[in-house]
Amino acid sequence: MNAVVTNESNTPALVATGLRKVFAGPRGPLEVLSGVDLVVPRGMLLAIVGASGVGKSTLLNILGALDHATSGTLEIAGQRVESMGERERCQLRAARLGFVFQFHHLLPEFTAEENVMMPMLLAGRDQARARERAREVLGQVGLRERELHHPSELSGGEAQRVAVARALACDPELVLADEPSGNLDGASAAGLHETLSSVSRERHQTVVLVTHNDRLAGLADRVMRLESGRLIPA
Ligand SMILES: Nc1ncnc2c1ncn2[C@@H]1O[C@H](COP(=O)(O)OP(=O)(O)O)[C@@H](O)[C@H]1O
Ligand SMILES: [Mg+2]
Repeated sequence: MNAVVTNESNTPALVATGLRKVFAGPRGPLEVLSGVDLVVPRGMLLAIVGASGVGKSTLLNILGALDHATSGTLEIAGQRVESMGERERCQLRAARLGFVFQFHHLLPEFTAEENVMMPMLLAGRDQARARERAREVLGQVGLRERELHHPSELSGGEAQRVAVARALACDPELVLADEPSGNLDGASAAGLHETLSSVSRERHQTVVLVTHNDRLAGLADRVMRLESGRLIPA
């Protein structure tokens, strides 16, 4: 018997159409995105590459509903984002998205485990279950022995792994990562990308990864280049 494919699973993780972003600059408007079209099917690992300053972070922040496009449309898991209020967008981010940034942004006064527990506690999960899940996902990123370390007691690569664990803790459908290995040496960067891709593939999660490192982009299912405000196949 064929597997039943529901509409839900056919809906792409992301559909962006004609996204434009214009910033008001001191010397007049600055158009950073000039019509980005993108469909990301569920479960895909997409890498976006491009020169520094070309608008990769701007695009990722829009795709993650952290910022508004000037015009164009965006659907995350079938939900139209432009029409949502800030409260709804916040709920969407908490329920469906996970973010990893270039700098880990871990809270210094908390342990690795507590940092990973944080989004689960905010989502209302009870403490014991959040701790159990934090330990599980820290194990998946190879940090089972670092649970009780504070960020200052971790290497740069380890801290980024904790940030990956935190992003994956609530089991998001879509993970957005903005140059997560930008600050790491070659070996740690490769390890981080491998971890992110293997853990997300296991859960059939969709990942959009911005990187300036073409070699690391090679782990992706598809690579697109942001150039002159548009996305083109790399
Ligand atoms: N809030 C902002 N206001 C004005 N200009 C901005 C703002 N954010 C980014 N920019 C400009 O948009 C361009 C793209 O920035 P960014 O998306 O950070 O590039 P990338 O991530 O590819 O390095 C840059 O020229 C930057 O100066
Ligand atoms: Mg950037």
